[in-house]
Amino acid sequence: MHAGPPRPYPDPSAPSAPPAPVTVLGLGPMGRALASAFLAAGHPVTVWNRTPGRAGDLPDRGAAVAGSVADAVGAGRVVVACLRDYDAVRAVLEPVAPTRWEGRLLTNLTSGEPARARSMAHWATAHGIRYLDGAILTPTQVVGTAATAVLYSGAHEVHEAVRDTMAAVGGTGTYLGADPGRAAAYEVALLDLFTTSVYGVAHSFALASAEGIAPDDLAPFAIGISGLLSEMIPRFAGQLRTGDYPGERSTIASAATTIAHLIDAATAHGLEVGALTAAKGAADRAVAAGHGPDGLPRLATVLRTGKPAG
Ligand SMILES: NC(=O)c1ccc[n+]([C@@H]2O[C@H](COP(=O)([O-])OP(=O)(O)OC[C@H]3O[C@@H](n4cnc5c(N)ncnc54)[C@H](OP(=O)(O)O)[C@@H]3O)[C@@H](O)[C@H]2O)c1
Repeated sequence: MHAGPPRPYPDPSAPSAPPAPVTVLGLGPMGRALASAFLAAGHPVTVWNRTPGRAGDLPDRGAAVAGSVADAVGAGRVVVACLRDYDAVRAVLEPVAPTRWEGRLLTNLTSGEPARARSMAHWATAHGIRYLDGAILTPTQVVGTAATAVLYSGAHEVHEAVRDTMAAVGGTGTYLGADPGRAAAYEVALLDLFTTSVYGVAHSFALASAEGIAPDDLAPFAIGISGLLSEMIPRFAGQLRTGDYPGERSTIASAATTIAHLIDAATAHGLEVGALTAAKGAADRAVAAGHGPDGLPRLATVLRTGKPAG
């Protein structure tokens, strides 16, 4: 199903029920930011972390530090898990007796693969735990502000039940439907973009440095490339929707030649070229399939169906 439009959280100044007790499991940078936001919104907060002593200033600000996961779960109405990965969530939650969850709701904001989110939801449901999956799309420093973006998916009734509490995280929460893996699916697609982009930025600075270009001299031009991407993303989406890939701006055949130049330039300086070789492979497969004159959005269909270059 398609995501509905993002819904701003309710007006926090509107009269409402007293803030629900919240438990945060995990006190890495994101768990601490979440606990801080719940405290700032007036929720009674209990925190737990595998390694003691990571609560920072949260106890001074009123957070209770639980001595066990079971006590932490018991203290919250909404339990928010934010751990390294789904294996950690399972390891932490499996020893907790199902009876501890009576009257409680679990929102798991841990990152992971969609399949793991679905199996986590299945496990939670089998143990009588009312479960919602979620993905935080924004960095720790904006949690609790209007800039936060969080995706949720899973049981609709659980989303409705935690929605007012999760408003403390700030910004926009988007509910993506009943499939618990949907939020993680969006997250992995967006992390794919983020990760390859960050790698591209680092590789670009490395190649510039090898050519004797100072980082500050490259930066203004690199910012221009990021502006191009903002324009390209909705254009790609539109062409992928219609299946029409006009090559009047640039073609895949031309891009394949450009990438070959890049690989030669990087190789000459001893830089790794794995990502560039993968990009060249995709462009070459598109050309071999007769898509050389097409625009670049066509590459997404080649990546979706194509085999890695051998
Ligand atoms: N940081 C961000 O900007 C950001 C943004 C969006 C999403 N996220 C997601 O939020 C989640 C948490 O991220 P984070 O930045 O807070 O740091 P993190 O390093 O990914 O996670 C740290 C937390 O996981 C716990 N942990 C790790 N392995 C564990 C295990 N086997 N059993 C129990 N606890 C375990 C750590 O406990 P110990 O202290 O005991 O090691 C700590 O509480 C991740 O899934 C991350 O992808 C983070």
